[in-house]
Amino acid sequence: MTQHYTIGIVGTGVIGRSWTVAFARAGHSVRLYDIDPTRAQEALDWARQHLTTAGAVDAVSLHTDLAAALDGVDYVQECGPDGLEIKQTLFRELDAVAPPNAILASSQSDYDTNVIAAGLRGADRCLTAHPVNPPHIVPVVELLPTEAVPAATIERACAVLRSAGQTPVVMRRYVPGLLMNRIQAAMLKEALALVLDDVADVADVDACVSDGLGLRWALLGPLAVADANADGGAREYFTKYRDSWIELMDGLSPTPAFTPEQIERIGRSVEEARGGAPAADVHAWRDRMLTALLELRRADPSPYTSATA
Ligand SMILES: NC(=O)c1ccc[n+]([C@@H]2O[C@H](COP(=O)([O-])OP(=O)(O)OC[C@H]3O[C@@H](n4cnc5c(N)ncnc54)[C@H](O)[C@@H]3O)[C@@H](O)[C@H]2O)c1
Repeated sequence: MTQHYTIGIVGTGVIGRSWTVAFARAGHSVRLYDIDPTRAQEALDWARQHLTTAGAVDAVSLHTDLAAALDGVDYVQECGPDGLEIKQTLFRELDAVAPPNAILASSQSDYDTNVIAAGLRGADRCLTAHPVNPPHIVPVVELLPTEAVPAATIERACAVLRSAGQTPVVMRRYVPGLLMNRIQAAMLKEALALVLDDVADVADVDACVSDGLGLRWALLGPLAVADANADGGAREYFTKYRDSWIELMDGLSPTPAFTPEQIERIGRSVEEARGGAPAADVHAWRDRMLTALLELRRADPSPYTSATA
């Protein structure tokens, strides 16, 4: 039988409400706290609409006091606003009132967890657990523990996340942007430049990913794609194409200035490509398709060992 956990969600906005669904759907008790009680109530209402498992909503409780919310929790997912001082203050409060063994995880991706938890008695139970929005649909979560966190605690955090259907990936040290935003930045930089330098339109640049590269990336990471692109695998691929990749990588476009005019141009073109579909419809379609794709992948799993294995 899967282990039952008691989870504290601190900050119940866009990300907190989605974590609520992920943990409650897995059969865990979820205790919600937001500095603004109306946000906590809204998150509960939102979760009610998204939870189909019988009894899952009954396991979600609202609290107006942080210490009461964290009474007896095994794991806290902090989802408050961004800002280093805000995170440091929040983690000081969490460390003061959460049970000594509870893991304290932040949803943020901007800062080194060592800096957020600097000087805390419980720095050895603090980590970043940065999801992709919305975490109740997209499984990957990047973990960045402080240097003080022992391996057993990292494993415990992974077990809690896996129990909720997430795919934790563990970083060995901090780099700005963590893993995902760095990878995303590299591609976004080039996609923006191709449009702003008039090489191709927004819809065509996006189609290169949505109707091409991204279809493979939904199944295989970029390194596994290279492995599958040559009969002799990644060694053959990178040997064969070494020079052209070096030339291309060295010649990639500079970072765009993001001037108001550039932002307006990209914004207008993406809006045209959307063809007037309301944002809520796009989000609902994206979530339906992601869910269907994940079901397909579960039915026919990847041969590559990944963080899910
Ligand atoms: N939105 C995204 O796409 C996304 C994706 C991944 C990670 N994140 C991270 O998740 C975190 C939350 O982002 P969000 O988009 O849900 O923000 P949000 O503004 O929607 O929600 C933040 C919530 O925190 C509450 N809050 C403010 N101060 C608080 C305090 N002291 N104690 C408790 N609650 C407090 C606010 O009332 C609000 O409800 C951020 O660290 C963000 O970087 C966001």
